[in-house]
Amino acid sequence: MPSGLARLGRNLARVVGTGAAVGAACVAYGSLLERNAFTVREEAVPVLPAGSGPLRVLHLSDIHFVPGQNIKTRWLRGLAGLKPDLVVNTGDNLSHPDAIAPLLDALGPLLEVPGVFVPGSNDYYAPTFKNPASYLLGPSRMTGKEPQELDTARLHSGFGAAGWLDLTNRAGSMTLQGLRLDFTGVDDPHLRREKYAGWPAGGAKAAQSPQVKIAVAHAPYQRVLDRFTDDGAQLIFAGHTHGGQLCVPGYGALVSNCDLPTWRAKGLTRWEHGGRSSWLEVSGGIGTSRFAPVRFACRPEAVLLTLTPA
Ligand SMILES: [Fe+2]
Repeated sequence: MPSGLARLGRNLARVVGTGAAVGAACVAYGSLLERNAFTVREEAVPVLPAGSGPLRVLHLSDIHFVPGQNIKTRWLRGLAGLKPDLVVNTGDNLSHPDAIAPLLDALGPLLEVPGVFVPGSNDYYAPTFKNPASYLLGPSRMTGKEPQELDTARLHSGFGAAGWLDLTNRAGSMTLQGLRLDFTGVDDPHLRREKYAGWPAGGAKAAQSPQVKIAVAHAPYQRVLDRFTDDGAQLIFAGHTHGGQLCVPGYGALVSNCDLPTWRAKGLTRWEHGGRSSWLEVSGGIGTSRFAPVRFACRPEAVLLTLTPA
C-alpha cells in the first residue's frame, strides 16, 4: 500500500477508535451516573385568582419503576419533604410486571397528599426489548409481538385508595385552601385512547366561586393540547417526552417521542391555539425506558410548580 494511503488508514482508525471510546464513556456516564442524578425543577405559574395564597404542585411523570431501584425509591420518598399541596402524576409509572407494590411503597408519603393521575402506555403494557437507537427515530410504536398486559387496575386502585382523583377520560374537582380546582384528563394519546370529557359540571353556586382549570395528559400530542386550550384550560400538565432523554449540551432534545416540537420537550411554555393560550408544563421525567437506561444532558426530574395569582 502506498505510504500516503497507509497513513490515511491509520488516522481513520485512530479517529474511529477515539469516537468509540468517547461514545462508550458517554454511555457509561449516562447509565451509571446521570440516570440517578435526580433533581427538582422549580417553576412559578400565575394562574390563580387575585388574592389567593400560593399553591405548591408537585408534578411526577415517567417514573418507569423497576423493583430494586433503591436510589430512586429513597428520592421519591423524600419528595414529601417539599410539602406539596397537590401531586399531579402524568403516568408511565411502571416498567416491570412486579413494580406495582414497591412503587406504591415508594410513593407512600406522597399518597397522603391530595393528587390526580392519568396513565401512560407503560402503565398498561410491560416494555419489550427494542434497539435503543430506535429512540432517535421518531415516536415509538408497539412491536408486532403481543405485549404483556400489566395490572393497571391494581395500580389505579392503589392511587384511588389514597384519594387521588382518576382523570382517565374524566373530569373532577377538588377544593384546596378554599379554591376550587377543576380538572379534566385523558387516557394516553400515544395509544390514541383519549376521549375528551370536558370540565366538571359545577352548577350556579360553583360557577360564581373562583376556579382554576387544569388539564392533564400523558403524551402531549398537539391535537390534545389544542383541544384543552380551545376549551379554556389555564394550565396543562404532560410527560412522556423524557425531555428528550439523550440531549445535546447547549442544544437540547433531539426527539420528543410525539409531534411536540423538540424545544418544548421539557419545561414551562405557552401553548396557543385559536386565539387562546394555556400554560404548558412538560416534565422531563424521572425514569428511562427499561431497555435504554441512559440519560445524557437531561437529568431525571420532578417539578415543583408554585401557582400564584395572575
Ligand atoms: Fe415514559
